[in-house]
Amino acid sequence: MAAPTFSAITLHVNGEKHTLTVDHRTTLLDALRERLDLTGTKKGCDQGQCGACTVLVDGRRTVSCLQLAVAAEDREITTVEGIADGERLHPVQQAFLDLDGFQCGYCTPGQICSAVAVLREHAAGWPSAATADVRPEAGPPPLTDEEIRERMSGNLCRCGAYVSIVQAVARAAASGQQAEEAAA
Ligand code: FES
Ligand code: FES
Repeated sequence: MAAPTFSAITLHVNGEKHTLTVDHRTTLLDALRERLDLTGTKKGCDQGQCGACTVLVDGRRTVSCLQLAVAAEDREITTVEGIADGERLHPVQQAFLDLDGFQCGYCTPGQICSAVAVLREHAAGWPSAATADVRPEAGPPPLTDEEIRERMSGNLCRCGAYVSIVQAVARAAASGQQAEEAAA
């Protein structure tokens, strides 16, 4: 007997549970866009090279065109639709708006999801290829433009809005730090 090629799975997206039956070959990107109508996540290259489809899976950024939906079952998925806190934009979203971190906007959902994860990765002390001192005791490196460019290098922007994108990520990092200092 032929093996089944469809399965019923549960996806947890932006705090909501969705049960759907998918062909095993369905990517997470297609499940989000075509089955759950979450079209904020964009399809650029569909082969892992542009970052337009970036979402967070268990808090880590993932190119959803390279992940099968069945492999994302029961994991916490956050798309750009789930980044804001209700009506309050995430500092990264606000900074992209304030500093024009986009032109056509097609790459922007992926840039925003990536930037949210970059700030977390940096705060957790993860080094990048641009980090001069990678010893754990050195702590997080200064989030220079070079660090931001390296950490965001998986997200391409065909409009070339990179200068504003880097500024927006730096602004969001600074506003996050100010909020932390105010709360301390
Ligand atoms: S659409 Fe996934 S990386 Fe380009
Ligand atoms: S804003 Fe157009 S591709 Fe980035």
